[in-house]
Amino acid sequence: MTREAARDQRPDAPGSLRPAPVDPPSDGRPAAVEFRGVTKIYNEGTPREAVAIQDVSFTIPDLPDKGEISTFLGPSGCGKSTVLRMVAGLEPQFPPTRGSVHVLGREVVGPGADRGMVFQDYTSFDNRTVLGNVTFGLECRGVPKRRREAEGREWIARVGLDPRRDAAKYPHELSGGMRQRVAIARTLVLRPRIILMDEPFGALDPATRLDMQDLLVRLWREVEATVMFITHSVEEAVYLGDRVFVMATTPGRIAAEIRMPAADAPARETQVEPWFHEQVNRLQAQLEGIEAAASRPGK
Ligand SMILES: Nc1ncnc2c1ncn2[C@@H]1O[C@H](COP(=O)(O)OP(=O)(O)OP(=O)(O)O)[C@@H](O)[C@H]1O
Ligand SMILES: [Mg+2]
Repeated sequence: MTREAARDQRPDAPGSLRPAPVDPPSDGRPAAVEFRGVTKIYNEGTPREAVAIQDVSFTIPDLPDKGEISTFLGPSGCGKSTVLRMVAGLEPQFPPTRGSVHVLGREVVGPGADRGMVFQDYTSFDNRTVLGNVTFGLECRGVPKRRREAEGREWIARVGLDPRRDAAKYPHELSGGMRQRVAIARTLVLRPRIILMDEPFGALDPATRLDMQDLLVRLWREVEATVMFITHSVEEAVYLGDRVFVMATTPGRIAAEIRMPAADAPARETQVEPWFHEQVNRLQAQLEGIEAAASRPGK
């Protein structure tokens, strides 16, 4: 099926910015991620009280043998990281002030092996080699050395590094793109069902960023996980997202949920197509509207 045909079959095709209906759990399976009326107020009851997100509800279905990439777009301070870190069960974002967060049918009570997180700043242990970083989680799980090193080398190759040349390097010997590949390998080697990515490619140059987008799509197909991906780039949100959540601010909330065609061609090819530009322009205009509303007097 052509991309256009696939798009037109969707009930909520790009070209429409109507909020998409929330999917029922697929095959009777519990949703991958579900927010039910979640509000987060930081420093509640103090003079520094701040409502980060208010009454946020959304559902990301758990598609059998596939998973989905959901991208989150929105102005700075609208609560994107708050949402993601709540899914990870990380304090102080977790627990919510009101409402509940569910992952794979269970209420989140803290961090867990079913969720893995990749941050913007290529977090790695400076005193560990690439292999040491990639195998760290396996080591924590008590996986024997031979097995974890074999798996680690396999993942080093999968993310496009050279196991022979790069495995013994330390993080300071790597470029930003290489360090982010290590961070991705370190997360995916643990086979999380939910992968949480907070602006992971934000600091990369444009060409490396496109390579990383292609890498993510390829790996995501292999691991069949659900990905929640925060970005400030509208192009990245449209290319990677099976659905895009647009967030607004004051208070932080979901303003729209939009379906996208799945990424089925390399980023460089897709991102010059007319439908792609049209969708990017629409989302851009919507974001500008949200930002203008937030900066009006009285807000
Ligand atoms: N630990 C905290 N204590 C107090 N307020 C916080 C804390 N973390 C975030 N906030 C506030 O909550 C709101 C949402 O923050 P959050 O970091 O989730 O936004 P964001 O959408 O990720 O922004 P950005 O795009 O700049 O990363 C902001 O107003 C922020 O100042
Ligand atoms: Mg953030």
